[in-house]
Amino acid sequence: MAYRDLREFIERLDAEGQLRRITREVDWNLELGHVAKINEQRQGPALLFENVKGYPGQSVFTSAFTSKERVALGLEMPTETRFLEIARSWVGRIADKRIPPVVVPTGPVKENILTGSEADLYKLPAPWFYPNDGGRYIGTACYLISRNLETGRLNLGTYRVMIIDGQTAGIQLIKAKDSEIDLRGYGAAGKPMPVALVIGGDPVLFLCSSTLFPLTESEYDIAGALSNRPVDVVRAETSDLLVPAAAEIVIEGEIEFGKTLPEGPFGEYPGYYTGAGAVEREFLKVKTITHRNRPILWSTTVGKPVTDTHMIMGINRTASLWNDLQNMKIPGIVGVYGPPAAAGRMLAIIQVKQMYHGHSTQVGLAAFASVTGNYGLKTVILVDEDIDPENLDEVMYALAFRYQPERGTQILRRGRSTPLDPSLPIETRYMTSRVILDTCIPYEWEQKPMPIAMDDALTQRIKDNWDLYFGEGAAAREAAAALAQR
Ligand SMILES: Cc1cc2nc3c(=O)[nH]c(=O)nc-3n(C[C@H](O)[C@H](O)[C@H](O)COP(=O)(O)O)c2cc1C
Repeated sequence: MAYRDLREFIERLDAEGQLRRITREVDWNLELGHVAKINEQRQGPALLFENVKGYPGQSVFTSAFTSKERVALGLEMPTETRFLEIARSWVGRIADKRIPPVVVPTGPVKENILTGSEADLYKLPAPWFYPNDGGRYIGTACYLISRNLETGRLNLGTYRVMIIDGQTAGIQLIKAKDSEIDLRGYGAAGKPMPVALVIGGDPVLFLCSSTLFPLTESEYDIAGALSNRPVDVVRAETSDLLVPAAAEIVIEGEIEFGKTLPEGPFGEYPGYYTGAGAVEREFLKVKTITHRNRPILWSTTVGKPVTDTHMIMGINRTASLWNDLQNMKIPGIVGVYGPPAAAGRMLAIIQVKQMYHGHSTQVGLAAFASVTGNYGLKTVILVDEDIDPENLDEVMYALAFRYQPERGTQILRRGRSTPLDPSLPIETRYMTSRVILDTCIPYEWEQKPMPIAMDDALTQRIKDNWDLYFGEGAAAREAAAALAQR
């Protein structure tokens, strides 16, 4: 069964020993973020800060998805599930299915409705994460809901949101993200775009809002398919948007096309600031805030790998690239892996069962041409079917012993980049080069390298009698045998 809300997920983490409640008073100003970050560096559990200075009755939840185990739990799978299997299940669950949300009359998110000067962002315990950040970030593990003016499609997109003042929040809508395209439509019509910034609800909503689905699709329908249950939604207070009935916090307001204010900088997931200072960006003008009693502000530290951002993008980019390749009907794709340390998006390892001349090259090119790979993917490593892409030792082996630089390297000169990639000069960050590293043994080789094999029958016999060699008493038996031979 899907999680009805964030609270059920937190309870599940607790039951699985994957949550730590912090009852000591912690300051939202740097301390909270630093505790979370150090805990993440130590590969610790998810954290629920229950005593944030100046915010009695509210909590901050961090580090939800900084481990593969907790991503598995978020998708209701056993903690020991392999990364590739989580992604394979994701692909399978949404392959041919969409479940639209269901409108319900009301829900817990309406327990408190703040309007006018009461709708004040400073009433929420937004953390200030790193010393050089530009402000407090109310939106990190969040999603912005917007409606496309032409098609009516509701989009859920995760974009960072910084408090500028009590009623204003700067938002980083990177060019051509779905909400930014929606905003262009409102700009052309001369209207402000109604939006709802949401925190909480079924964690699958957050996993989906940070996934690159096609512009025409609503993440609500995909989250429904992933959870195999429709999301319960209620009408927003100030617009015709639909928001999750069991969200923790919903900040309703408007964004006006072309109007900007300084936002950032923010310690982003490549481990660097995008620029030295603030950048002019669109902003959200707050109209109303609704929230549950004792609301939980879900946050993520972002910053250097591995944080929620890296793990989530590891899973969702792996799944969506795999899904894209499947939809392109390219045969022989055995596995796809976007390592979390590469945020799943800068580098992908693809396992191919070669079936014809040029097959592996086709896979590499297709990855870059796919909806997912077209945006920011820089390196594709192709491996044969006997190399497990999730096992980086095996991938290194393939790079060392099968890859031949002259034959296996193809450089593509121009592709769409993320402006957050610090390997590019700051003024030219929208375009990147790309590389295919093909470690596959060429399909056309008549004489392929001969692998070393062990004797099957003997191997089985030794495995069946392993205790004779290594079991308790093996040493005593050896000593006795040695004595008997004297
Ligand atoms: C924690 C987190 C923060 C993110 N912040 C931003 C951001 O500030 N701006 C942005 O454009 N994308 C950001 N992303 C990536 C987007 O969520 C992702 O590209 C998603 O596909 C956007 O939704 P859309 O496809 O509906 O536009 C972030 C992802 C995560 C996991």
